[in-house]
Amino acid sequence: MRKKIVAANWKMNLTKKEAISIYDKLEEVELDDNQEIIVFSPYVFLDALKQRQHHVKVGAQNFHPAARGAYTGKVSISHLVDLEIECVLVGHSERRMLFNESSEVIKLKLDVAIQHKMEIIYCCGEPLIKRETGKHLYFVKNQLETDLFHLSAEQMKLIIIAYEPVWAIGTGVTATTAQAEEMHKFIRETIAGKYGNEVAENTSILYGGSCNAENAAELFACPNIDGGLIGGASLNSEDFTKIILAQ
Ligand code: 13P
Repeated sequence: MRKKIVAANWKMNLTKKEAISIYDKLEEVELDDNQEIIVFSPYVFLDALKQRQHHVKVGAQNFHPAARGAYTGKVSISHLVDLEIECVLVGHSERRMLFNESSEVIKLKLDVAIQHKMEIIYCCGEPLIKRETGKHLYFVKNQLETDLFHLSAEQMKLIIIAYEPVWAIGTGVTATTAQAEEMHKFIRETIAGKYGNEVAENTSILYGGSCNAENAAELFACPNIDGGLIGGASLNSEDFTKIILAQ
């Protein structure tokens, strides 16, 4: 049975005190056996969160693909391993658009993260123009084929997919359940076409983009939506807990 996951992407927000306070409250949330919470924190809080030794997983929002060296200001995957971080985000649209992260870099990062046995949330999703012109399915299929489909079926087991339509991120406009379920089903079928049904059925596919305490239950009730990657609404422990409990 594939895992149900609700993950927080705190992006570049919160103070250390706020981060620890939210994280500690999440520890109290009771989870089913196949349910998981992950918090993608800014680097500077990673160690402090890990020190709490909670069952809530701690992930990093980014890393540099090089093993080490003269890359001022960057953090390597070995740094994350050293802190016992188990998950990373790869391919977020903010990294693609604001930091010009290409498919080549995304592929490299996936390979490095897999070498280090990280759990990976790989993000995909179309910009508004592709949705408006009816090319959203084709666009996302192309992202999967370009970024992900060099991996083996065994390596795919480390991949969790987050479908995050760019037009829904931080806008307050959420994809309708019909739009989200259509895409999630399509992503699962695309994975099945490449890797077979077993891999596709075991891959968790999360929805991200203005998911909140009000709309989460309806989205998570869709058969191909296995949880969420939450930005704004994860910055408040009450709202985020409601989203987790909506599963
Ligand atoms: P919002 O929930 O703020 O729209 O952000 C979604 C997101 O980008 C999570 O990675």
